[in-house]
Amino acid sequence: MSDQAASLRKRAAAKAESDTDTTQVSDPASMFGAKHSTRVITVTSGKGGVGKTNIAVNLAIALQLMNKRTLLIDADIGMANVDVILGSVSHRNMLDLLEDGVELSDIVINSSFGISYVSGSSGIERALNFTRREKNALHHKLADADKLADIILIDTGAGLGRNVLDFIVAADETLLVTTNEPTSISDAFAVMKMYCRNSKKRNIRIVVNRVDDPKESDDATRKLRETSRKFLDIPITVPIECAGYVFEDRSVQEAVKKQMPFIVNSPTAPASKCIIALANNLLTGREIKVKRGWKNFLRRLFS
Ligand SMILES: Nc1ncnc2c1ncn2[C@@H]1O[C@H](COP(=O)(O)OP(=O)(O)O)[C@@H](O)[C@H]1O
Ligand SMILES: [Mg+2]
Repeated sequence: MSDQAASLRKRAAAKAESDTDTTQVSDPASMFGAKHSTRVITVTSGKGGVGKTNIAVNLAIALQLMNKRTLLIDADIGMANVDVILGSVSHRNMLDLLEDGVELSDIVINSSFGISYVSGSSGIERALNFTRREKNALHHKLADADKLADIILIDTGAGLGRNVLDFIVAADETLLVTTNEPTSISDAFAVMKMYCRNSKKRNIRIVVNRVDDPKESDDATRKLRETSRKFLDIPITVPIECAGYVFEDRSVQEAVKKQMPFIVNSPTAPASKCIIALANNLLTGREIKVKRGWKNFLRRLFS
């Protein structure tokens, strides 16, 4: 942890000194590694404002620190704000791929925090009305993103929109962010219900944000599990699990105000420790068999 903290501080200092806080990948080919399976994880929630983007951004940085090349994609329709939290201004986003001559390497940004990311766009609403030709172009141009990363994290919008559901059903794993408030839990339950109707997989785990006590996350998980058992008939052999929790922590707001990821701004703060624990859990916890990976994710998304 102290090594990680030191490394984070170094990155933060480098960011503060540098005006060019984002650069485009100069030689994407150099990043292309050997054939491997890329984990595709969506971060979603039932209700907006529960901390999805903060968790996605900081988790991406934590995974990168654990030597997993991580690509973060901002797919929150209408509320794309990964840029805001990273304190960067992107001139390119996913939709630019629809232009002739724009390739993946043109839209992937290397942030100074070690992760690469693809910026969202409020115009991404258009995604719902893509023509077949546009879908094919996107599908084709995004195909090699798995060569850039071991883990692709996707920050989706909140709620039950078709677009959100498409992402979580297509992905191998989903982290469903909730707080312990009844409204947030009941909205999370609604997502879970739709997920179970639309997907045979059960790789959905919850992350309980803004807890004052770890017991609160057990509480939220239990409530969700009980409701789901009662109403959804989820086989008990595949329980609803909690992948982690994040403490209610002022350092989150402080970092957001500075437009810095909190794990960089206050690496040893309680929320940062929770993110490190979550990343650890994702990497060392129960094995997720990667059966589909990125290419199958795209196939499902654009089919
Ligand atoms: N663990 C936390 N502790 C304190 N405040 C938090 C925490 N998580 C989120 N917040 C607050 O909630 C706001 C919304 O978070 P955000 O990640 O943008 O939510 P979402 O992406 O779900 O809409 C943040 O700007 C921050 O002020
Ligand atoms: Mg968000």
